[in-house]
Amino acid sequence: MTATVIDGKAFAATVRGKVAEHVTRLKEVHGITPGLAVVLVGEDPASQVYVRSKGKMTVEVGMNSYEHKLDVDTSEEALLALIDQLNNDPAVHGILVQLPLPDHLDSDLVINSIDPAKDVDGFHISNVGLLGTGQKSMVPCTPLGCLMMLRDHLGSLSGLNAVVVGRSNIVGKPMAQLLLGDSCTVTIAHSRTKDLPAVVRQADIVVAAVGRPQMIPGDWIKPGATVIDVGINRIEKPEGGTRLVGDVDYDSCAAVAGAITPVPGGVGPMTIACLLANTVTACSRANG
Ligand code: GUN
Repeated sequence: MTATVIDGKAFAATVRGKVAEHVTRLKEVHGITPGLAVVLVGEDPASQVYVRSKGKMTVEVGMNSYEHKLDVDTSEEALLALIDQLNNDPAVHGILVQLPLPDHLDSDLVINSIDPAKDVDGFHISNVGLLGTGQKSMVPCTPLGCLMMLRDHLGSLSGLNAVVVGRSNIVGKPMAQLLLGDSCTVTIAHSRTKDLPAVVRQADIVVAAVGRPQMIPGDWIKPGATVIDVGINRIEKPEGGTRLVGDVDYDSCAAVAGAITPVPGGVGPMTIACLLANTVTACSRANG
């Protein structure tokens, strides 16, 4: 079998198109322009790239983008004061603090100081609890993008065996909650899982979010399974230079799977599209 390639780039463009229509309606009907504030502390190059790309796409869908770039040695007090200011700014409907933060800052404290209604990352403990109990919440962007691609490709996910490899708060755990919400039988596997290949072989849906380049080979994949690759890893090419690869070994997995997301061009573009969608949702909810 050769897998269908799930085109996250094209799907994300469709989602952004719908967000742009919603933004136009909010402007025309309510006279409101949704605004997204992104806070970056320090100069981590990968984070700078993400923040730039978020800002560009925010403006492209017609929303206001507010970028706050703070020095690497910014105090916790100063960061919390900025978040308080953004929480109280009616022009700001979504707030994202780019992670990871420098070591001297307490990420949990910082994230939990964001107004949950503006927490477009869905990382605030209130949103985590709401998602875990099946209530209306802000849903983390990467898992939300994965779920949208799965629903689009498979239709109903009810009764399917889903294995999420990776247990992070940002991807693994919320992904498992969303799949459970769609009535999958969900397993969260991780570095201590016994006989990981045998666990992954049970999966109709594999979501790989471990951050280890090409860790999952094709012979772990059940024939016909849908493989969602969240990994973005830069590796050295034998001939020199670097390239991006996912957490699954693409060629061997694509030979066995029913469908697979590529890296780049799979999950990545969907994450930003879902961030924009969450911002427009936050704005709509704030304005009745
Ligand atoms: N760093 C890597 N991914 C993310 C994300 O989804 N949100 C935030 N805030 N920081 C990140």
